[in-house]
Amino acid sequence: MKKVALITGSSRGLGKAMVEAFAEQNYRVVVHYNKSKANAHAIINSLEQKGLEAMAIYAPLDNAQDIQKAISNIIERFGRIDVLVNNAGVKEDASIFDMSLETFTQVMNINVIGAWIMTKHVAEVMKKQGSGRIINISSGVGTYGREFQTNYAGSKGALNAITKSLSKELGPYNITVNAIAPGLIETDMTADVDPEHKEAYRKQIPLQRLGKPKDIANAALFLAGDGADFISGQIIHVNGGLR
Ligand SMILES: NC(=O)c1ccc[n+]([C@@H]2O[C@H](COP(=O)([O-])OP(=O)(O)OC[C@H]3O[C@@H](n4cnc5c(N)ncnc54)[C@H](OP(=O)(O)O)[C@@H]3O)[C@@H](O)[C@H]2O)c1
Repeated sequence: MKKVALITGSSRGLGKAMVEAFAEQNYRVVVHYNKSKANAHAIINSLEQKGLEAMAIYAPLDNAQDIQKAISNIIERFGRIDVLVNNAGVKEDASIFDMSLETFTQVMNINVIGAWIMTKHVAEVMKKQGSGRIINISSGVGTYGREFQTNYAGSKGALNAITKSLSKELGPYNITVNAIAPGLIETDMTADVDPEHKEAYRKQIPLQRLGKPKDIANAALFLAGDGADFISGQIIHVNGGLR
């Protein structure tokens, strides 16, 4: 039976690259979106034109009911979920002096609590199946920290700790839980980063180039595949060698 991969935030950016890569590897894919409905449906159309199987789900990650309903819709259509990639995320940088409590909480709500609710429902499905792969898209700043990102870096640090904790809790059900920590990759999220900063950052990377969405998709495919059967609780940095 064809495996099913749910990639959150797959209407754009890294999520879109992952959903396309998984579909091309013969997974049935679920494109999750919040605001970018037209993008999500365009992705579905283009995959279906290639004879690949895909469905779209709408679920704002700050709405627990919508998340639960979306998972029920996936089970109704595909009957199972083999891979969950918690990719959707937001960033809202400011110094601690200027950051409102609302801004701090909003990033935590989407990046941590939304991913946690999604995982809670999908883990139930995977436990019944007796197998599953959960991949959290973290960030290098969750390990190393970054100025003006107490909310974003804090959320990714929390995601790393959740990854390690859940790998212990879900291992007995044959569910692996890992995180990918990308370096800077050109997407809408990083469109506001100053080109000079990008160039300075690139020069520090041992491999001397910025990451591409495909680099993250390749790592996710590996963690979802049979070759990663015995890998769990790991934070895999995909960043060209930066430390
Ligand atoms: N790009 C980088 O350099 C980089 C580096 C390290 C880590 N990451 C992480 O990689 C992940 C993807 O980043 P990206 O660069 O691809 O971001 P992006 O281009 O800004 O895309 C963000 C995705 O998240 C979804 N999303 C945002 N808010 C949401 C909400 N409230 N409810 C549901 N979905 C929501 C968006 O859906 P809609 O458009 O449908 O609303 C979109 O599909 C994020 O977790 C990010 O933190 C990125």
